[in-house]
Amino acid sequence: MNYKQEYIASTTSPEQFWLDKAHNIEWFSAPETAISSAENGYQSWFKGGQLNTSYLALDHHVNAGRGEKAALIYDSPVTNTTRTYTYNELLNEVATFAGALQGLGVSKGDRVIIYMPMIPQAAIAMLACARLGAIHSVVFGGFAANELAVRIDDATPSFIITASCGIEGAKQIPYKPLVDKAIENASHKPNGCVVFQRPQLHAELDSSFDHDWHSLMENSSPVSAVKVDATDPLYILYTSGTTGKPKGVVRDNGGHAVALHYSMGALYGIDKNDIFWAASDVGWVVGHSYIVYGPLIKGATSVMYEGKPVGTPDAGAFWRMIERHSINILFAAPTAFRAIRKEDPEGEFIKQYDLSSLRTIFMAGERLDPPTYYWTLEKTNKPVVDHWWQTETGWPICSNPMGIESMATKPGSSSVPTPGFNVKVLKGPDTEAEPGEKGSIAIQLPLPPGCLSTIWQDHSRLVNGYLREFEGYYSTGDNGYIDDEGYVFIMGRTDDVINVAGHRLSTGEMEEVLAAHPAIAECSVIGINDALKGQLPVGLVLLKDGANIEESELEKELVAQVRQSIGPVACFKRAIVVKRLPKTRSGKILRKLLRQIAADEPISVPSTIDDPSSVDEIAALMRDKGLVEAVNV
Ligand code: COA
Ligand code: AMP
Repeated sequence: MNYKQEYIASTTSPEQFWLDKAHNIEWFSAPETAISSAENGYQSWFKGGQLNTSYLALDHHVNAGRGEKAALIYDSPVTNTTRTYTYNELLNEVATFAGALQGLGVSKGDRVIIYMPMIPQAAIAMLACARLGAIHSVVFGGFAANELAVRIDDATPSFIITASCGIEGAKQIPYKPLVDKAIENASHKPNGCVVFQRPQLHAELDSSFDHDWHSLMENSSPVSAVKVDATDPLYILYTSGTTGKPKGVVRDNGGHAVALHYSMGALYGIDKNDIFWAASDVGWVVGHSYIVYGPLIKGATSVMYEGKPVGTPDAGAFWRMIERHSINILFAAPTAFRAIRKEDPEGEFIKQYDLSSLRTIFMAGERLDPPTYYWTLEKTNKPVVDHWWQTETGWPICSNPMGIESMATKPGSSSVPTPGFNVKVLKGPDTEAEPGEKGSIAIQLPLPPGCLSTIWQDHSRLVNGYLREFEGYYSTGDNGYIDDEGYVFIMGRTDDVINVAGHRLSTGEMEEVLAAHPAIAECSVIGINDALKGQLPVGLVLLKDGANIEESELEKELVAQVRQSIGPVACFKRAIVVKRLPKTRSGKILRKLLRQIAADEPISVPSTIDDPSSVDEIAALMRDKGLVEAVNV
């Protein structure tokens, strides 16, 4: 089948298409229907089917006689460690840790928060939860205690699993004090905390609450996988929205397994003998789908990397990894390649390594800017694929479907809609844009399997945030256009979400932190262009009458405050004092206009503006402060 036939089959008969794909995974009890209505009125996938995701990712391959094959390769330049786990070994670790969790009282439906660095134990903890039918929620290590506390209160976990430290380049980040502080700040109190002690830093444990990972493992026995319904939640992954409160994206077991299994073959062209490396973090959706679940469900080998593209120790890290582990597919964010290019513009490191195993480089997390695309293509001489997706969808919405048909590339485009995603550009309800015309990108319902099934504890947020804007469609929050050959071009967000180094962040959340400062009357946080990280947040702040603080001192305090409340990952480094912010007559800050000024785009001044002269004033100030930088990102 070519792409077109496959795509048409997926959108015209989704029921049959996905029921066929569901036959490719092992079920304890196979589903008889693909799409049905959930209790909350939304769609659900494979109702009636029973399976276990950890069983699929591990036992299935061991039972098929592939236990001695490599499942997970851990490579950590920051600790100078490499370790390969076979499927037999990984199954044993996961089943034993699941036994340990069960011994602590964790059972089906319980939530478990995992706050861990990029070590195999993070994947083991995720798979162990899945084995018991417990719902894991992994929180990225770059978030501060306060963010962790917010997630603890929303997910109400029975346990937290962490490690003594993370290692960021040359820095050690003690995790345990962060977890303790988060638990102290949260209203919900978990029953305990499991701590993996790393040799680099020992955490102090409280024997009445904390459990040592190693001792638990020594005293536990492996347990088998429990049956769960296809529609039971596998995990919650929090992502930024427009408000300060993150959204708990819920993923089911059945749809997720079918979609990821399909995507490994159809999009990445991976088979069981391949080695797949997603250079992301388990705290992000890419890490969930393509470090842990996708490659293992497929029975391939996944690579887990505890390091950076540069600085650990140099800009040759990616190429060294490819040669050392004979990696076939590399997946990373464009910002990583911009970082490499900055340090090694001529690609001298690339020449030092044998990249013959590498078939394709995939990029996502932000738009792949054409200069980075061309540099990577020219220097590596490998196909480079931009593919677009979101935490909510769990797998790519648009891609060059390399396993079905390798299509021509158009730089700046994430290629064509992947089978299952009926992508449209809308200008309003029931008004589709013409080819080449910009609009809001929406996906006609039903969404394919693997996408979010609800927002944890707040289904109305899914309905209001995604399904209300266009009846019968899921709104992606991105805008762009589709050209006359069906290629999709994503141009940016329609909301106040920004993308910093491939990380999705809420400006609203940062504004809440700034607004809490006693000197600040009003503020707005916008994303400015940055040649390395794509975007960087900047705070525009208006002082209260009589506030007596130096701008540089205020900036220092605000930077520290955001770091403490949200975390270093926010990369909040600049705040400038403004005399006024452009507003509507009803007092709403015109954020879109500020974004347009920052991006050096044509400005559309709305007729509702209170005082048009405020636009020139703020534009001049932003230019003076060097915030308007038209870079090609
Ligand atoms: N735990 C604790 N702190 C973390 C962290 C973690 N897991 N990840 C990042 N941080 C910290 C960093 O140490 C840094 O702190 P600092 O302000 O004290 O220096 C801060 O958060 C910002 O980190 P980052 O944005 O990663 O910046 P960097 O300068 O360290 O690295 C890049 C720049 C481009 C190399 C890096 O951002 C990168 O590799 N990005 C790819 C992102 C990605 O894979 N996204 C997933 C989508 S596919
Ligand atoms: P996240 O949920 O963190 O994966 O972020 C999803 C958002 O990142 C999308 O809604 C887009 O705004 C952006 N994004 C991800 N991948 C791409 C891409 N390939 N091209 C353009 N934008 C992207």
